[in-house]
Amino acid sequence: MKIAVVGATGMVGEVMLKVLAERNFPVTELIPVASEKSVGKEIEFKGNKYRVVNLATAVSMKPQIALFSAGGDTSKEWAPKFAEAGTTVIDNSSAWRMDADKKLVIPEINADVLTKDDKIIANPNCSTIQMLMALAPLHKKYTIKRVVVSTYQSITGTGVKAVQQLENEYTGAQGEMAYPYPIHRNAIPQCDVFEDNGYTKEEMKLVRETKKILGDDTVNVSATAIRIPVVGGHSEAVNIEFVNDFDVNDVRRLLHETPGVTVQDNTDTKTYPMPIYAEGKDDIFVGRIRRDESQPNTLNMWVVADNLRKGAATNTIQIAEYLTANGLV
Ligand SMILES: NC(=O)c1ccc[n+]([C@@H]2O[C@H](COP(=O)([O-])OP(=O)(O)OC[C@H]3O[C@@H](n4cnc5c(N)ncnc54)[C@H](OP(=O)(O)O)[C@@H]3O)[C@@H](O)[C@H]2O)c1
Repeated sequence: MKIAVVGATGMVGEVMLKVLAERNFPVTELIPVASEKSVGKEIEFKGNKYRVVNLATAVSMKPQIALFSAGGDTSKEWAPKFAEAGTTVIDNSSAWRMDADKKLVIPEINADVLTKDDKIIANPNCSTIQMLMALAPLHKKYTIKRVVVSTYQSITGTGVKAVQQLENEYTGAQGEMAYPYPIHRNAIPQCDVFEDNGYTKEEMKLVRETKKILGDDTVNVSATAIRIPVVGGHSEAVNIEFVNDFDVNDVRRLLHETPGVTVQDNTDTKTYPMPIYAEGKDDIFVGRIRRDESQPNTLNMWVVADNLRKGAATNTIQIAEYLTANGLV
């Protein structure tokens, strides 16, 4: 297959190339795409060298699939042009996620909503993906009423600029700031921009995308998203109130049996998920599973995942795999 990777020189794009190679996705021709400043740059993929092209050239090359991770504005403008040329776009930005005509997909949860007519498909927000991988099986069994989530998000979620900011702060070098404040030795209670209701866009993504992916408007989410000076993955403290009661060991068993979820939960051995161990892995990791003793039918857990893998690149490529396996592309 002819595959375009839009944003191939970025944090997510680079991981996409790695995941495409690792999973042996049937790429016959790779089209790496980035901004004008990167055109002509050489990208290596499975031992072959490819030159970065611009978006217009990529459209004219008519790839079967275009994997987008180049920001919302690029997606808004260019995804329809690819779609018009017959390319199926899988988009990592927030541009199309809440569009009523576009599917928002975590393959393990709702790949069955996809059809041949879907030419622009949205990949959910990284924090939403890892939370829902753990919540979806529990919702099916116990019915979620309300979720209160606090995130501790990796700087890799903000792209190459943020990683550079932290590097500069370590070494004392001057450089461009990705955040409004220093991130080294800090915790910034702002991921993305603020909305009129006082929440950030990142927090509202957790609220809105959850309802859309679970196909259930009754699931209420309250979120606080924090940026911390960590690489390797996002962590989330999740408090879930269910309609029905549960047994904590059944919860552990259910999560253990869920494909894509690894339970790391043993207080005796100090076993729990952490971003330095989640880095580079495709699973999402769940631990600190315990009953909330302050109110009935309520559970606490800690969910960690590499935001660049399952939170972005891996989920995107799983969607592409589903499309090809089911003749939808
Ligand atoms: N990082 C995450 O965990 C994560 C997770 C889920 C979704 N996302 C989304 O994925 C997208 C990329 O994120 P990232 O972290 O990879 O950012 P990044 O490291 O800053 O990379 C951005 C990429 O987009 C390209 N690009 C920027 N403007 C462009 C334009 N006008 N035309 C063509 N290409 C352009 C850049 O090319 P140049 O190198 O030429 O500038 C680069 O390849 C964003 O929409 C982000 O919201 C990120």
